[in-house]
Amino acid sequence: MKYNELIEQAILGREKSYSPYSHFKVGAAILLKNGTYISGCNIENISYGLSNCAERTTLFKVISEGYTKEDIVAMAVVADTKEPVSPCGACRQVIAEFLKPDTPIFLANLNKDYKETNIKELLPYCFEEIENAD
Ligand code: THU
Repeated sequence: MKYNELIEQAILGREKSYSPYSHFKVGAAILLKNGTYISGCNIENISYGLSNCAERTTLFKVISEGYTKEDIVAMAVVADTKEPVSPCGACRQVIAEFLKPDTPIFLANLNKDYKETNIKELLPYCFEEIENAD
C-alpha cells in the first residue's frame, strides 16, 4: 500500500494521546510535499468540551509550522476501532479548510484496515463561501 508509512506515522502520533477522560486514543498524520510527516493526537481537558481531536491537532501543527494547503499530499487517522475510525463533524469542517476536495484521507485502525476517502466525500455541500458577507 502506497501510504503505509503515513498510517504508521499516525499510529506513532496516537501513542502520545492525552486522553485520561475517555481513554480513547486517536492519532493522525499528514504527508507534506517535501516528504515530511507531521503527526498529532487527541488532547483532552477536564472541561471535556475543550478537548482537541487528533485531526485538528495535526492540521494546526502543519499550519503553525508555516505549511499551506498546497503542501498537503495526504492525511491518515487511526484509532483502536473495529472499523476504520471516522472523523467527527467539527474535524471535517477543519479538514475542509486545509485539504483540497480530492486529497486522499486514509481512515484506519490498529490492524491497518483502512478506507481511502477525501473531504469531498466526508463533508459534501460544506460551508465554504463568505465572499458576500458584509
Ligand atoms: N476523537 C478524535 O481525536 N478524533 C475523532 O475523529 C473522533 C474523536 C477524540 C476526541 C476525544 O478525545 C476522544 O476521541 C473520544 O471522543
